[in-house]
Amino acid sequence: MGFCDDVKAAAEQIAAAKKITIISHIDADGIACEAILSQAISRQEISVKSVFVRQLEPLTMPQVPQDDSFKIFADLGAGQQNLMMDRGLSEKEVLIVDHHISQPCEREYPQVNCLPYGHTRMSAAGVSYLIAKQLDSSNIDLAKLAIVGNVGDMMAREKCGLVGPARDIIVEDGVRHQSVEVRKKDLNCYGTATRPIHLSLAYNDDPFVRGISNNPEGARQFLRKLGIKEKTPDGRYRVWEELDAPEKRTIISALAEQLIAHGEKVDRLFAETYGFPDELPRTPLRNAQEYATLLNACGRWAKPAIGGAILRGDRGQAYRDAEHMLTNHRAIIRSLLQFIIDTGVKELEHLQWLHVGGRYPDTIVGIGAGMALSKLNPDKPILIMCEVPEDTNLTKCSMRTNERVVGRGIDLQQALNEASTEYGGGGGGHKIAAGAYIPKTAEQEFVIRVNRILGEQFTAAGSDNR
Ligand code: C5P
Repeated sequence: MGFCDDVKAAAEQIAAAKKITIISHIDADGIACEAILSQAISRQEISVKSVFVRQLEPLTMPQVPQDDSFKIFADLGAGQQNLMMDRGLSEKEVLIVDHHISQPCEREYPQVNCLPYGHTRMSAAGVSYLIAKQLDSSNIDLAKLAIVGNVGDMMAREKCGLVGPARDIIVEDGVRHQSVEVRKKDLNCYGTATRPIHLSLAYNDDPFVRGISNNPEGARQFLRKLGIKEKTPDGRYRVWEELDAPEKRTIISALAEQLIAHGEKVDRLFAETYGFPDELPRTPLRNAQEYATLLNACGRWAKPAIGGAILRGDRGQAYRDAEHMLTNHRAIIRSLLQFIIDTGVKELEHLQWLHVGGRYPDTIVGIGAGMALSKLNPDKPILIMCEVPEDTNLTKCSMRTNERVVGRGIDLQQALNEASTEYGGGGGGHKIAAGAYIPKTAEQEFVIRVNRILGEQFTAAGSDNR
């Protein structure tokens, strides 16, 4: 059986169900999965309900209903099949739609997972979309949602654009449906629809441009020298997407010159980006990256259904609520990032780590860890711990690294899964980004254990962390 056969089998299972519950994850990818699957299912006139969980773990399992509905686990489940078995779920009532690494379980639940087929840069929203399209080819309006999910899960980051089936099938469908605009060789920069141009440039450090990255005033002077007007005649800051093509070319050429002058490569200056022409200009809904942040803000602040409403087209109250959460989300992530940098991390041989206590919600520490990594030592995986408000006996751990380190043999998912299981917790995710819950009492030993596992991974791959 190939991946397409799994997609077909999943669509058949769904079409045969009378009542469905979707259990999905609270991040942008999970929210997109839920919106894609639930719309595709209700268009088949099958009754569907949704439940969002921050992760499948013993604490959240009671949210999975014990009823006669067919249960689709989306963007989670592959690594937690033992919990499904413990909850008494049979193979007949479950379908897993995921892109995380599977953990072996006595009971083999039906699963559509792109990872074992080598599609490493497609998220669960991508898999959900392929199932939706298999259910009915008119579901191509949902391609846009899948692109948001994929981009939100960093699937476009390493290659500066989506690749594989996410690009060849999903982006192409979006373009055909005319709800997606592909911008080839756009500036590889975040905030192109909403941030003043100089801030977009200054907040970007991939690639790091000396005198501009991390330097808003430097970025401003750079634009001034190029003769780019920073404000509109009515005094409002302009954003990147408002610039005309010659202005964009002028800026990109000058950035390239700056990089070349310092002997740096220019390849990461460009990215393929995905715009949504039918959304209002200068809103976070205009491109996949900012749209995904908006969804993440909803999910991480415990209102994933608001993100879902926006994906279904609500531009009224839900959108206003989401904008409010986005402002809050950005402020708290900035504060977390600053806290990590000001406090400093503790260094072991193969990792750097910090416990942020109860200052920040466990749902965002992973985002902070990822952002802090590029400002600290990017060659050492980072582990951030925090308290779990719902259970004072538990500690949440989030780890992040980069593709270069993964290329040297590091697999954070394996490390966190192995170490957390040894202490009676649980964890999973990806080689590059993973999370775990562990007993609070095991914190100190756990960090040492993870450090040792990372050392073993480097050794097994015949590399080291220098
Ligand atoms: O929570 P965090 O953002 O650090 O999670 C990173 C990745 O690890 C996500 O893809 C998440 O789904 C996964 N994860 C997991 N099991 C956990 C915690 C996180 O599979 N217990």
